[in-house]
Amino acid sequence: MKAIHGVHLVLFLWIAITVLSFGPRRSNARAHFHKQKNHHHKDNGHHISQPPALPPVAPPPDNDTDPCIFNVRAYGAVGDGSTDDTAAFRSAWKDACSTESGVLLVPSDGMFSITSSIFSGPCQPGFVFQVDGMLMPPDGPDCWPESDSKHQWLVFYRVDGMVFRGDGTIEGNGKDWWDLPCKPHKGPNGSTLPGPCDSPALIRFFMSSNLTVRDLRIQNSPQFHVKFDGCEGVYIEGLSINSPPLSPNTDGIHIENTKQVSIYNSMISNGDDCISIGPGCSAVDIENVTCGPSHGISIGSLGVHNSQACVSNITVRNAVIKNSDNGVRIKTWQGGMGSVSGITFDGIIMENVRNCIIIDQYYCLTKACMNQTSAVYASDILYSNIKGTYDVRSPPIHFACSDSVPCTNITMSEVELLPFEGELVDDPFCWNAYGALQTLTIPPISCLQQGEPQSLQEKQRFGC
Ligand SMILES: *[C@@H]1O[C@H](CO)[C@@H](O)[C@H](O)[C@H]1NC(C)=O
Ligand SMILES: *[C@@H]1O[C@H](CO)[C@@H](O)[C@H](O)[C@H]1NC(C)=O
Ligand SMILES: *[C@@H]1O[C@H](CO)[C@@H](O)[C@H](O)[C@H]1NC(C)=O
Ligand SMILES: *[C@@H]1O[C@H](CO)[C@@H](O)[C@H](O)[C@H]1NC(C)=O
Ligand SMILES: *[C@@H]1O[C@H](CO)[C@@H](O)[C@H](O)[C@H]1NC(C)=O
Ligand SMILES: *[C@@H]1O[C@H](CO)[C@@H](O)[C@H](O)[C@H]1NC(C)=O
Ligand SMILES: *[C@@H]1O[C@H](CO)[C@@H](O)[C@H](O)[C@H]1NC(C)=O
Repeated sequence: MKAIHGVHLVLFLWIAITVLSFGPRRSNARAHFHKQKNHHHKDNGHHISQPPALPPVAPPPDNDTDPCIFNVRAYGAVGDGSTDDTAAFRSAWKDACSTESGVLLVPSDGMFSITSSIFSGPCQPGFVFQVDGMLMPPDGPDCWPESDSKHQWLVFYRVDGMVFRGDGTIEGNGKDWWDLPCKPHKGPNGSTLPGPCDSPALIRFFMSSNLTVRDLRIQNSPQFHVKFDGCEGVYIEGLSINSPPLSPNTDGIHIENTKQVSIYNSMISNGDDCISIGPGCSAVDIENVTCGPSHGISIGSLGVHNSQACVSNITVRNAVIKNSDNGVRIKTWQGGMGSVSGITFDGIIMENVRNCIIIDQYYCLTKACMNQTSAVYASDILYSNIKGTYDVRSPPIHFACSDSVPCTNITMSEVELLPFEGELVDDPFCWNAYGALQTLTIPPISCLQQGEPQSLQEKQRFGC
């Protein structure tokens, strides 16, 4: 008995000393932030009479005790695939985002459903949003809350330096959106019904900088899968993005008004552009990306509704594009302004691709666009080491440049494209396209005009 009392006394003294010495620090420390929070909820008003919790003597390095990890389950998220866990995610966001090196964890053992949400920063440095389980929106338009935005689902706003990663899956539940009767040919008897047809982009980063998005699987988006606008400094690595080939408007990665972008080592298959680059983008580096089925890698569309577009310094290297409606494409509307320049496509393998190389300055959705004289000026475009096979339904090389504003300084080097099956019907097409061949191409292209057009007012870059 005495011995036990002795042990108790020693233990009591040790607790008193450690509590005293840790006490003041604990009040503002991050340790056990979410556990304390739960404690308050459960024992509201009674916690004063309880002994203070022991500080961790040697915290095991797992995520139950790591003070920086904010598991959404600790905030009440259920993760059963149907419960609305939005409130838990918002609370977890608040705590994780305001903690240095905070990790909002979506654990691997759950399917979490949340409604359209804007997660706003700024967050503390080192913030990570980690999805190891599955995260998804409500299942289709019928389940979408009436008051929620139909333009977007998961939005990150003003989050500088955030990392979005994980081994998990963002599941878009897009099928019922794709089948809305207002979508192309989804109406009765293959018609397209009029009317608003908004469908949410799955993940949007808005007005943010120094972002990393990596490793995740992102699939079945109602519309664009991942979208960046007004961002600077984006690093994408190892994403896998998948939707069926006929899912409308499901661009894989879309960027606009965004600068300094790296997209590396990722696989995308979907029903629209694999990667689309809108107005206001520059310094974009794409490497080791596999696309297909898809609509290829697109710059544009630019200059819609007579707008100005400035796109420059885009490089696509070591890409594989297969079973796609386009390969590498630049598309602009008539009547636009600005320029698209400094574009390099280098080391692209095509497999059964329509329009492998295409510039379309007559882009028009209705086939009833008026001819206009202004255009987005396309120049300094290099196609180098582009090899593989094309679908003979369209010529593999197609440069349809503006009547009034020719494309200039198109360079072609080691372009070798053969029919996937059958025989080429049309020769390569050029209209008002100027440039040079560094090596002979397959198929041979004789329509590219040498030198510079006389009409072009030199190097004013059309306002960019
Ligand atoms: C959480 O713990 C699990 C299992 O111990 C581990 O696989 C996972 O990577 C951890 N997550 C974080 C964010 O550390
Ligand atoms: C669809 O086509 C069928 C057979 O051609 C026709 O009987 C039916 O009225 C059409 N439905 C609509 C909504 O146009
Ligand atoms: C982005 O990161 C770079 C390098 O770490 C830093 O110099 C820059 O200030 C950051 N930009 C913003 C807006 O946080
Ligand atoms: C692209 O892939 C090659 C070969 O696997 C690799 O050496 C290179 O580092 C990759 N590029 C990037 C930017 O990761
Ligand atoms: C594009 O690259 C050129 C050459 O490296 C550079 O001078 C120019 O500033 C860049 N433009 C933009 C908008 O980044
Ligand atoms: C536009 O110009 C083309 C070629 O000059 C001509 O064939 C076409 O009819 C014009 N379209 C309209 C809508 O004026
Ligand atoms: C033509 O474009 C290439 C890039 O493809 C660039 O290096 C070169 O400077 C351009 N030439 C002129 C005359 O602008």
